[in-house]
Amino acid sequence: MREAGALTAKVLQEVAAMVKPGVKTRELDRKAEELVARYGVKAAFKGYRGYPASICVSVNEEVVHGIPGDRVLQEGDIVSLDFGVIYEGFYGDSAVTVPVGEISSEAQKLLKVTKEALEKGISQAQIGNRLSDISHAVQTHVEENGFAVVREYVGHGIGREMHEAPPVPNFGLPNRGPRLKVGMTLAIEPMVNVCTWEVKSLADGWTVVTKDGSLSAHFEHTVAITEDGPEILTKWD
Ligand code: MF3
Ligand code: CO
Repeated sequence: MREAGALTAKVLQEVAAMVKPGVKTRELDRKAEELVARYGVKAAFKGYRGYPASICVSVNEEVVHGIPGDRVLQEGDIVSLDFGVIYEGFYGDSAVTVPVGEISSEAQKLLKVTKEALEKGISQAQIGNRLSDISHAVQTHVEENGFAVVREYVGHGIGREMHEAPPVPNFGLPNRGPRLKVGMTLAIEPMVNVCTWEVKSLADGWTVVTKDGSLSAHFEHTVAITEDGPEILTKWD
């Protein structure tokens, strides 16, 4: 899981570094493919339930599962990149939202708050805590800052499958659900919208957008619960 996480992070970091005005979303997918081949891993998403690409690229009001294509990134956009690998049968899964050039102060705040919400959730991934302590920490931080957490899509256990039990919601009361134990690995992934938490799917069968067209951000790490606290397996250099 450490290796899978490290390779996931490496690819995601390199793809994120390519984001700038004028880049086509398909070029980001091509870069991910190239790196996957170079590092000798498999892209976890390609072919998953028929998903056609190696990376998800979701721009502005797109929440998750955007399909890379001919869209050209513009100054002021925000772009969520979600990527995972399979390494020796184990999965890594991680997401980041990055600015394209200069972005509005509202967009900057959205990125900051979503990243912080992920960090707050991760800090609850401790032996003896219960699963919903993570959920509650995420929701509290997001709502304190006036934003909304998506309900329809959630984090998940991860290991020999990308999606394992338990689901890891980004909302809920504390002190509910299973106790966290050493060795558990979770994908914690707040999806945060500026206005309503409601989402809908587009006709392509994949792209999820905010119902009201407001901006959305997504940060995700694969995290292990250890004796020494949470270990972020998809940490960047
Ligand atoms: N990375 C997503 C998750 O966190 C799954 C991507 S769906 C796929 O659960 F179809 F793109 F693979
Ligand atoms: Co995930």
